[in-house]
Amino acid sequence: MDILLGQVLRFDGDPFAGGRAHIDEAVAIDGGRIKAVGPADRLRAEWPEARVTDHGRCLISAGFVDAHVHYPQTAIIASWGKRLIDWLESYTFPEEMRFSDPAYADEIAGRYLDLALANGTTTVCTYATIHPESVEAIFRAGQDRGLRLYAGKTCMDRNAPEGLRDTAQSAYDDSLRLLDDWHGVDRLSYVITPRFSPTSTPEQLAALGALWRERPDCLMQTHLSEQTDEIEWVRELFPQSRDYLDTYEAQGLLREGAVFGHAIHLTDRERARLIEAGASVVHCPTSNTFIGSGLFDMGLARQMRVGLATDTGGGSSFSMLRTMAAAYEIGQLRRDPLHPSQLWWLATAGSARALRAEDRVGNIAPEMEADLVVIDLASTPAIEQATRRAEDIWQAVFPTIMMGDDRAIRAVWTNGTLRSGCRSGS
Ligand code: GUN
Ligand code: ZN
Repeated sequence: MDILLGQVLRFDGDPFAGGRAHIDEAVAIDGGRIKAVGPADRLRAEWPEARVTDHGRCLISAGFVDAHVHYPQTAIIASWGKRLIDWLESYTFPEEMRFSDPAYADEIAGRYLDLALANGTTTVCTYATIHPESVEAIFRAGQDRGLRLYAGKTCMDRNAPEGLRDTAQSAYDDSLRLLDDWHGVDRLSYVITPRFSPTSTPEQLAALGALWRERPDCLMQTHLSEQTDEIEWVRELFPQSRDYLDTYEAQGLLREGAVFGHAIHLTDRERARLIEAGASVVHCPTSNTFIGSGLFDMGLARQMRVGLATDTGGGSSFSMLRTMAAAYEIGQLRRDPLHPSQLWWLATAGSARALRAEDRVGNIAPEMEADLVVIDLASTPAIEQATRRAEDIWQAVFPTIMMGDDRAIRAVWTNGTLRSGCRSGS
């Protein structure tokens, strides 16, 4: 049994729908679960034998949930000067080709998860490459670190170089085998993963739609309407489809559990169908500015499940703090300034809800899984001086959202175990 003392942040609901954040003094964890949250004296009296760590004024939050990443792009993050389609061809595909080597896949999977943890991220939903070994590498690395982790084999059977293409049949067969081997093992979940419509034939999308009907309890992830050139390309490749979303919908890939990355340039029909179907969309703000994609409409968060994500390595950071800052800046450009509580909720419970994991991770409540991050709200001199006049918790947190990075991460707990950082408080 461990008791952590600090400013323990929990949400009683979605702040886009009237839910509120609360600060408690203490959280008790045992056996990988949160046992209680509340006044320090009460928890210490209830468990006098518990090991107590006092984190002072640090914020104790649910670990961050990064709802859309490409772990194989770790080494090409921050590559200069391209927009989506050229960026894929110049940087991404050559790097993803290297994952035919299982030793390289293992190396990058471990490197990526260590970077994510150093930034306070305890759950990710990631694309692998077309190589089944790349899925096994990230699942093993997640298992070693006790993580709740979502991943799938990226399927592509056209418009990708030789060596990075599968077929409709092999995509189905490999995905099914990986799903049956890994889905539900420890804290791992398989995600059916067609990369996006330009790199899948209708036959491949149909095969993955059939697989999803046979294994309906897993998630399906893909990309939707990220850049206007991409949408134009989809129109040429799928002349029979009403719009981009219809290329998925027609093949059984639109329902609850579908997780669409980006979703920036939507038609009215696409918005209405995404909402009606109960699908999720994931905002990737550092990617959207870095690759020059556009400004996501956070109005969607008032109507459907919206997650927040780095989109590593199209995104330019591994940090969900930096990602919240970028979401705030995009909100400002759209005249929709997001409240810090909304940003924090998106990076934790909102992303968990987008992955249909909101009853397990992303918040602090009894019986939820004990994935926690301890955050120093004065981690640099610039941040410290900006918090001195703070009159409430959000004024104290906002400088860390806007200027914080991995130096703010004091400790990370996953599955009730301290993975990095310290036990001593400040
Ligand atoms: N669309 C299809 N593949 C990708 C990818 O790897 N990154 C981003 N940002 N968009 C994509
Ligand atoms: Zn992506």
